[in-house]
Amino acid sequence: MHSEGLRNIKACVFDAYGTLFDFTSAAVAVRDELGDDWQALADLWRQKQLQYTWLRGLAGHHADFWQVTGDALDFSLATLKLERPGLRQRLMELYLRLSTYPEVDRMLRRLKEGGMKLAILSNGTPAMLAAIVRNSGLDEVFDAVLSVEEVGVYKPHPSVYALATQRLELAPVNICFLSSNGWDAFSAKAFGFRVLWCNRFNQAAERIPATPDGEISDLSSLPDLVFPSSPAYGGKQTGKPT
Ligand code: LAC
Repeated sequence: MHSEGLRNIKACVFDAYGTLFDFTSAAVAVRDELGDDWQALADLWRQKQLQYTWLRGLAGHHADFWQVTGDALDFSLATLKLERPGLRQRLMELYLRLSTYPEVDRMLRRLKEGGMKLAILSNGTPAMLAAIVRNSGLDEVFDAVLSVEEVGVYKPHPSVYALATQRLELAPVNICFLSSNGWDAFSAKAFGFRVLWCNRFNQAAERIPATPDGEISDLSSLPDLVFPSSPAYGGKQTGKPT
């Protein structure tokens, strides 16, 4: 990491799905019904959900993330020939109670205890985000839970990232943005945030503008990277050999 690195970070802003919350946990929870198809469904559902955000954005046909998530599920169930009574409703309800990744609760509480401001910035609707935060017992942790619905366009539109600077009243360089979605991490860096790409899925670097400040394989090291009392302060952690 270069000299400034992650110094003077006043807030950590997290992507929701795939970063804090495991979007595959809905399909895992219906493994009794899906058997080995759960993984294919989880993957296609997620891919299609994101595609629909970008397609709707380009076409000027915005619909909120609850609709897009349901539409993507319908496409995926039809493609995989998994249309069965009650399955859609079960999966959509489970999307409101996705699990957090194992390190998330402790990591957030360490940051909070150290005085870091914490926020979520997500494509999710306010109702979807309120539900997963509440169902994960994290209500008291976040200073702000920000939805793209406030601007009516999806990530990676810069007006979405600007929401965090406006709401937290901080300059982009005082915000560390965390996402496991490479395209989101790279785009947030292009906006001007300090960015750590939480590359949980060991994906290749995106070929779009701006490269994140660092890469971590999960979020457990984050408090050490942003608190001045830690030896790793301001350093870059990379999960891969350089
Ligand atoms: C979100 C998606 C991109 O939470 O994961 O915004």
